[in-house]
Amino acid sequence: METVVSGIRPTGNLHIGNYFGAIRNFIKMQEKNNCFFFIADYHSLTTHPTPQDLHGNVKQVLVEYLATGIDPEKTTLYIQSDLPETAELYLLLNMNAYLGELERVTTFKEKARKQPNNVNAGLLTYPSLMAADILIHKANKVPVGKDQEQHLEMTRTFARRFNRMYELDFFPEPTAFNFGDNLIKIPGLDGSGKMGKSEGEGNAIFLAEDPKSIRKKVMRAVTDAGPTEPNSPKAEPVENLFSLLKAVSSQDTVNFFEEQYSTCKIRYGDLKKQLAEDVINFTAPLREKILEIAANEAYLGKVAKMGAEKAHESGAKTMREIRDIIGFRKF
Ligand code: TYM
Repeated sequence: METVVSGIRPTGNLHIGNYFGAIRNFIKMQEKNNCFFFIADYHSLTTHPTPQDLHGNVKQVLVEYLATGIDPEKTTLYIQSDLPETAELYLLLNMNAYLGELERVTTFKEKARKQPNNVNAGLLTYPSLMAADILIHKANKVPVGKDQEQHLEMTRTFARRFNRMYELDFFPEPTAFNFGDNLIKIPGLDGSGKMGKSEGEGNAIFLAEDPKSIRKKVMRAVTDAGPTEPNSPKAEPVENLFSLLKAVSSQDTVNFFEEQYSTCKIRYGDLKKQLAEDVINFTAPLREKILEIAANEAYLGKVAKMGAEKAHESGAKTMREIRDIIGFRKF
């Protein structure tokens, strides 16, 4: 049995990139492992949300976790700030995290470019907080999408550094994980990059999105003029549509459109129509559950309380051990 940890930042509704990159793995992993899945509300403070937005987004992620099938009885499903020991470990890890290595992290450089007026210390030390989330439960496996790979590398560096410093084999070196495959990146609908909330209107398809809006977004997705020679390589926006098709459609459907593409018969309008319907088939039952669970505040309260207690049991134990190792001892 492995110890599994992963989290999602509460910054709005979850999209199908979150689902296929992370949540799909959570659902499978919860059956046989010791799983901790949380809502990374400390992390979301790097973008300065209002208290109302923060609370609303935490609730939304909690609801969506539950709607996708994460079982609070089988896992520890909790809110990061309900385990304040995380912040203590973050502080300790920061004492051995170096400016040079933090500045080199790709996501930091990207964020610094995107929000030049808010390059705060939380953004810079984002990898130490993420390492704290993972190491506080001594996790071995971390199911995440491709974009988190470098953060996991940093987590291993911090774990090794701690072990070496205190000459102990205390933290395992956790690895990023995707079931049976390489880490994945679900592309967005705007022709480049990955699906993400902050990438602009129309780029992401949300789990709670209504069918009409899904159809509209998919039909507007970027393509090109179409293949002119048999078996020609696909341009990035077209490759992206095929990646989405592979995520939500049957193998037969994928094969059909691949064949149409390689013989230059493809009509992107048909491909998009099919893609939209398959996305809707996938999200519609989730959407219903999301609406149902969101209305049940009492249940959400119960889940959050249970999660906080279970997370504390594991996290407080690790922190006691760490304090002792470091030399914070009682007289
Ligand atoms: P976040 O909130 O940006 O994304 C949550 C999860 O969804 C994955 N993901 C994707 N996967 C594939 N294709 C996409 N287009 C896509 N977009 C998002 C992410 O890889 C992630 O797994 N730093 C994390 C949250 C976090 C965390 C942790 C994760 C905080 N502490 C400890 C694991 C362990 C983040 O910002 O993910």
